[in-house]
Amino acid sequence: MTTPLMLATWSFAQAGLDLALPELLKGGDPLDACVLACEAAERDETVDSVGYGGLPDASGAMSLDACVMRSPSECGSVCYVTKHVQVTRLARHVMERTPHVMLAGRPADHFANEMGLPQSNLLAPAAREAWFQWSQTGIGGHAPDAALRPMDPGKGGGGGLFFGQTGGNRSTSGTDDERRWPSHDTIGVLSLACDGRLAGACSTSGTAFKAPGRVGDSPIVGHGLYVEPGIGMAVCTGEGELVMGSCAAYAVIEAMRRGASPAEAAGSVLERIDDLFSLEKHHQIGIIVSDAGGRHIVTALRDGFRAVLGDHDGSRVVEPEIVLHPGT
Ligand code: GLY
Repeated sequence: MTTPLMLATWSFAQAGLDLALPELLKGGDPLDACVLACEAAERDETVDSVGYGGLPDASGAMSLDACVMRSPSECGSVCYVTKHVQVTRLARHVMERTPHVMLAGRPADHFANEMGLPQSNLLAPAAREAWFQWSQTGIGGHAPDAALRPMDPGKGGGGGLFFGQTGGNRSTSGTDDERRWPSHDTIGVLSLACDGRLAGACSTSGTAFKAPGRVGDSPIVGHGLYVEPGIGMAVCTGEGELVMGSCAAYAVIEAMRRGASPAEAAGSVLERIDDLFSLEKHHQIGIIVSDAGGRHIVTALRDGFRAVLGDHDGSRVVEPEIVLHPGT
């Protein structure tokens, strides 16, 4: 009998873990727990990086991405979903009801209709207002000093971007606090069941005010999420492009497959990302990992990342044990 465990990115995940934990602790399915936890964030209008509360793209339009995984042969994902908020559940339907791994865009919404998922408006009033402010001033977005600015967002449907300019006068100095990362990014949830089964899921609205059409790491198996029975599971959150360029979640589990501990594996991937990219001060990555026995670690590139741990003692927000660049 394994000691069950849930681990999730960002403190806003706590409400979802509180919903999902009781069933998991009673012997429930680990993927049920992950989907339930992600759906709590997808419904929550105050979470501005997932589901209904998420911030839109540069043109003011919403698109959502999600992924679920039990093993390399049991995974599913959706990206660029524009009409359905339950994208984690939809990714699970792709896994369980189709021979495919990933569906994208309008056909993914069509498939959601076939699965009986309700359509809804994805753009919450506060997110619409945030986009409007950003479109006027260039201030706001997922990270301080983000190097994206709107270019006449009202013209031709919008979405044109200037790259390489600073996004206003927000400062990265200040507190070691999640508020440094205003849109906290993907919810990623890992779950270990009493019978030793593993599962993971993640859900996101992607980078705030992203270029229309952009899809990040979260729905790509091996980038934002990877699960391998007998080895472990990992979720990455933060700057999707850095995670994609390094196949980070897969790299963590592959390092563990070769004998590394969760701490060694996550630490080595953060170091690899540090080596591979010219990191800027607004770049943040959080990696959460558990091995197949429940030995886990929370890690980040910089200060300010938080995770939520759930077990027989309930749920609580936890600090990273490894921060590659503390004080930044
Ligand atoms: N990590 C989420 C994204 O970049 O879309």
